[in-house]
Amino acid sequence: MDFKVATGSAGDVAAAVVILPIFLDEQVPQIVAGIIEPDEFRALMRKTLLLRLPEGKSGRRWALLVGLGTRTRFTSERLRRAVGEAVLGVRKHNLHSLVVEVPQAAGFDAAELARATADAVLLANYGFEEFRGKGTTADDTDYFPLENATVVVADDAGASAARLAETVYGGVKLARDLGNEPPATCTPTRLAEVATEIAKRGGMQLTVLDREGMRKNGMGAILGVAQGAHEEPKVVVLEYGKKGQGPTVALVGKGITFDSGGISIKPAEHMDLMKMDMMGAAAVLGTMSALADLKPANLHVIGIIGATENLLGGNAYKPGDILTAMNGITIEVLNTDAEGRLALADCLSYVQQYEPDAIIDLATLTGAVVVGLGNQISGMVTNNAELAQRVKQAGDETGELVWELPLLPEYKEAVKSKIADIRNTAGRAGGAITAGAFLERFSGNRPWVHLDIAGVAWAEEMAKPYAREGAAGFGVRLLVQLLQNYSQR
Ligand code: BES
Ligand code: MN
Ligand code: ZN
Repeated sequence: MDFKVATGSAGDVAAAVVILPIFLDEQVPQIVAGIIEPDEFRALMRKTLLLRLPEGKSGRRWALLVGLGTRTRFTSERLRRAVGEAVLGVRKHNLHSLVVEVPQAAGFDAAELARATADAVLLANYGFEEFRGKGTTADDTDYFPLENATVVVADDAGASAARLAETVYGGVKLARDLGNEPPATCTPTRLAEVATEIAKRGGMQLTVLDREGMRKNGMGAILGVAQGAHEEPKVVVLEYGKKGQGPTVALVGKGITFDSGGISIKPAEHMDLMKMDMMGAAAVLGTMSALADLKPANLHVIGIIGATENLLGGNAYKPGDILTAMNGITIEVLNTDAEGRLALADCLSYVQQYEPDAIIDLATLTGAVVVGLGNQISGMVTNNAELAQRVKQAGDETGELVWELPLLPEYKEAVKSKIADIRNTAGRAGGAITAGAFLERFSGNRPWVHLDIAGVAWAEEMAKPYAREGAAGFGVRLLVQLLQNYSQR
């Protein structure tokens, strides 16, 4: 799609459709005032109405009204969802080009709204079409792709905000594509290749550890998970900037490219979804990709992913095994399906050599967080209130929400083992928290935040209009925002 940013008026832009976001109980814009009665459209949140326009100088033929609901409940996230809904409407009607003017709202920064509008257009136009319509016509497409879209902004600040959204979207798209890709090709080796491209583009240091490299580093935890896999596991490290250039922030991603559960095998139903158990890693790669383009100053960022399959077979690790992580902590394996925390344990240990000022890990870690928080908000476990606040703020700013779960001392006790230092599961109760308590043992007592994204990494039945079914790319926009806040404030 050709994404354009313009100043001036939407009326001057040639496009098949003009999207008109409208607040509840307010007058419709002049352009449709003559063809709709005041009570013909109630601008409830996300409600749309498609109207035929008289032929004008820009040749435009349609207007798509979309409700923003009442001004008192307005947020940039509601704008994102409303515009996302409208974009889906344009796509459904196969109208392939649109223009949308950023609405104004008192108390809201115009640039923030420009960013949200651009986010919505880009995110809602995403599709994973690589495996469709090859042998037939694409008649079964529900949502046709846009050919071009123009976001009309008020000024230069709005224009650069919309351009920022476009750059960050590149990272989100990368993460979504990787999550949607079948596990046969989205392997640890493939993730390492993606990292190699990012390193080249962004002038970053790259380290790729294979099984042998992990052995040399004493990474017994991820190696245990990888034992059952024929695919070569990879720990991939990207380094942006240098130590001493601003704060050192480590981003750690769970990269299980397929989670069968291992010997503690999962039920067959929905196991296909476990191709997306690398969305933490995808978020880290997507963020590093955006950094490669944005090149923010005063920042030193380590991006690390622990990538392996979790399979079963004659070599697979077993319940009862005891693994030794890179930091020397011994782990009793009680369930081979609690593998993500093992992969993260070695990655968290590895980043200690950089003496990071902040560590943020992202992982599709537990079913428990899905039960507890659902599909709209991620679960956070932390040892540091200030870092937690920063992450929460970045989440609020981008609409990628986080909710803190309490890391009580009792939950830390619960992960202790009778015969090793810790065990890899403490049972069902508080499963998302005890998983966090496990990871905390590898934080090196540095400021650390864990985000359990199991509920938000994959969009089911359009949880949000700008994230259709499939990989959501959750975390990229939040992390880039967090890093930019470090860089700028
Ligand atoms: N990858 C899963 C968690 C998951 C569940 C991600 C649903 C996305 C959607 C993880 O490796 C896992 O299997 N966790 C177990 C842990 C348990 C064995 C302690 C779980 O949540 O059941
Ligand atoms: Mn698992
Ligand atoms: Zn998993």
